[in-house]
Amino acid sequence: MKTVVSGIRSTGNLHLGNYYGALRNFIKMQNENRCFFFIADYHSLTTHPNPDDLYPNVKSVLTEYLAAGLDPEVATIYIQSDIPEVTELYLMLNMHAYMGELAKTSSFKEKARKQPENVNAGLLTYPTLMAADILIHNADEVPVGKDQEQHLEMTRRFARRFNNFYKVEYFKEPIAYSNGSQMIKIPGLDGSGKMGKSEGNCIYLNDDPKVIQKKVMKALTDQGPTEENSPKPECIENLFTIMKIISTADTYNYFDEQWNKCAIRYGDLKKQLATDIIAATDPIRERIKEIEADPNILHNAITLGRDKARESAQKTIKDVREIMGFRNF
Ligand code: TYM
Repeated sequence: MKTVVSGIRSTGNLHLGNYYGALRNFIKMQNENRCFFFIADYHSLTTHPNPDDLYPNVKSVLTEYLAAGLDPEVATIYIQSDIPEVTELYLMLNMHAYMGELAKTSSFKEKARKQPENVNAGLLTYPTLMAADILIHNADEVPVGKDQEQHLEMTRRFARRFNNFYKVEYFKEPIAYSNGSQMIKIPGLDGSGKMGKSEGNCIYLNDDPKVIQKKVMKALTDQGPTEENSPKPECIENLFTIMKIISTADTYNYFDEQWNKCAIRYGDLKKQLATDIIAATDPIRERIKEIEADPNILHNAITLGRDKARESAQKTIKDVREIMGFRNF
């Protein structure tokens, strides 16, 4: 059985990008693998160090994880900061991570540009903390969206480097959990490359259906095609990308054909897309309400998950300490 590890930063509610990037095939994934799903609250401090937000944000990610179908009896769900072994491994991996490679990471360069007043060491070492999250359970696969590809590549490099340095074959080199398909990138509806919290262009899982409708109807479009079978500009391609993931193949093919025939009506396409997004997320919103009404659900999930996650993490740390030469007196 494979070990699968996945995390989401606690920076607010989950959006379609998180859902289709990381939680796709959730039910199948947890039934077929040894799954660890956690909330990356330490990672959130690299950009959002606000004590008033920390707990509510962790709570909403946890609620939405469960609402999306994660079963704490089957998978292990926990909060990153509940597992001290993660930070211990992070520290150890940092001894073998180099300033140059960390500073070259795309996400670091982007964040440093966005928050020049707060280019902290946590941001620089974000990839080693992420590697610690993954390697603490010696994962085989990691469900992530396309934006995390470089971080995953670095995790493999850190694992390989550790093995080579200490002349062991301890860590596996984890790959993306893809289920045979490519890594997903959900684009923004504002014509931008990526749907993301910091891009401010998200459709959230818990958005009211009316809000979803409004956001989709406002999506950026162009004048429409003037030549048959012409390539789609980015803003239109984005709508089709989302449609391909969320709607049925028949729906997608119908609108694609309309595009190719220069007969497309963007209003119809958006209406259909909004309907399909609302239908796909309706059960999640229902379940969010149920979970919010019963605080025991979160408490029980976390209590169960924390113990299972620690047991696995403690085993890894014991081995790593041995490999690195730590000895008891
Ligand atoms: P975060 O919180 O930014 O995003 C959580 C997950 O959602 C995916 N995602 C997307 N996928 C497709 N299209 C999008 N527009 C989109 N936006 C977000 C991300 O790829 C991610 O899978 N560094 C991670 C959190 C993390 C982690 C880990 C993940 C920390 N430790 C260990 C896996 C394993 C992050 O920032 O995710």
